Amino acid sequence: MTSLPDPAALYAAHLAGLKAHADQALARGGLDHLVIPSGRLHYQAFDDQAYPFQVSPQFKAWLPLTRVPDSWIAYTPGKRPQLIFLQPRDYWHAVPDAPGGWWLEHFDIHIIRTPDQALALLPKPARLCAILGEAHSALGEYAPNNPEAVIDYLAWQRSYKTPYEIALMRQAQARAVRGHRAAEAAFQGGASEFDIHLAYCGAAGQDASQLPYANIVGLNQHAAVLHYTELERSAPAQRRSLLIDAGASAAGYASDITRTHAAEVGSEFQAMIEAVDAAQIAMAQAVAPGVDYRQLHLDAHLALMGILRDFGLITVSPEAALESGVSAAFFPHGLGHLLGLQVHDVAGLAESDRGGRIPRPAGHPYLRMTRVLEPGMVVTIEPGLYFIDMLLDQARANGHGAAIDWDRVAQFRPFGGIRIEDNVLCTNDGADNLTRPAFAAA
Ligand code: GLY
Ligand code: MN
Ligand code: MN
Repeated sequence: MTSLPDPAALYAAHLAGLKAHADQALARGGLDHLVIPSGRLHYQAFDDQAYPFQVSPQFKAWLPLTRVPDSWIAYTPGKRPQLIFLQPRDYWHAVPDAPGGWWLEHFDIHIIRTPDQALALLPKPARLCAILGEAHSALGEYAPNNPEAVIDYLAWQRSYKTPYEIALMRQAQARAVRGHRAAEAAFQGGASEFDIHLAYCGAAGQDASQLPYANIVGLNQHAAVLHYTELERSAPAQRRSLLIDAGASAAGYASDITRTHAAEVGSEFQAMIEAVDAAQIAMAQAVAPGVDYRQLHLDAHLALMGILRDFGLITVSPEAALESGVSAAFFPHGLGHLLGLQVHDVAGLAESDRGGRIPRPAGHPYLRMTRVLEPGMVVTIEPGLYFIDMLLDQARANGHGAAIDWDRVAQFRPFGGIRIEDNVLCTNDGADNLTRPAFAAA
């Protein structure tokens, strides 16, 4: 197995880019300092139990630290960035280790023992700071103000991943693929959704608080619920299909991978999975600079409807199915989205680094990416075909019943649906599918 690139060697260049982006963002906002709280624990109502801590994406863009509440990054153009790091004196909870690692030399580090000690260390005056975060992170005068010009600029720049970020995203692929392999084996062994989920977490080495999103594990008809996260404790009497959409995190960077498996080798459903898989590979290969993602999405509709027609589920041409909205009854979500520090990463609809929105194509309200692809972007390519009663009933009510072969739909309904999702880097030379090589190496 070839070794993955080392993020440590790539960090200095990543940080230099962040500083340049911060300089420009602050200039646009007419502000002097960038201040980023890591975030603060949220407590459950009437309880002393906190929700799992999720670090601010703005914070983890700068540092590979994801478990450090009440810490701060402060940056002033031309100066070294500051890390104000909370290491409380606490014998109830594990205290974060003293900061260490290859990034340390790039920061001035200030250890604080209580959250309010940050106040004396934050740049002054507070009114000249761009403070990025949620209101809950406020400390004294340092209440997040999230200046729009700053946020828009930084969000736009986050669309272009640095080699450091790509290295971490490759690690997130490898981790998730270990989970997917274990999940497939658990499924073929007759496990319940819950046990498939546990097999995934065990092999990926991450649990619900670290995964980038809640695992979607659907057996049989549950695969027709796009974000099915119920995790049934008992296995169904008859095992037909598994749809598993599950990722992993590496220093706060996400992978987002879906596979669909058939219980019966050689079945018609298996053949349909293979058809979607082949179409998905082609869609991923179409990722290239200058390609409009909206067009990829519409092309995906046509390819998927071609499969449904070949399998006899629709009686009309792919073009007619797209035109009438019948295709959206079978493929009711977007082809994909930007991926990075967040699973649905920011700026997928952004018109420029000054904000604005590129509209979705009419009739496609769930598409999360409307931009033209450029080198450095990482997108998901996740076509799907589902047998969802609610949407098929609507298609019939809208007068499109004759476009659908209802007997064939009835034969496929027990399998729920199919989704295949890879993560693809756009490079100058075209598509670099991050996911397929990770499966090949596993
Ligand atoms: N796992 C959520 C998505 O694929 O967008
Ligand atoms: Mn997914
Ligand atoms: Mn996705």
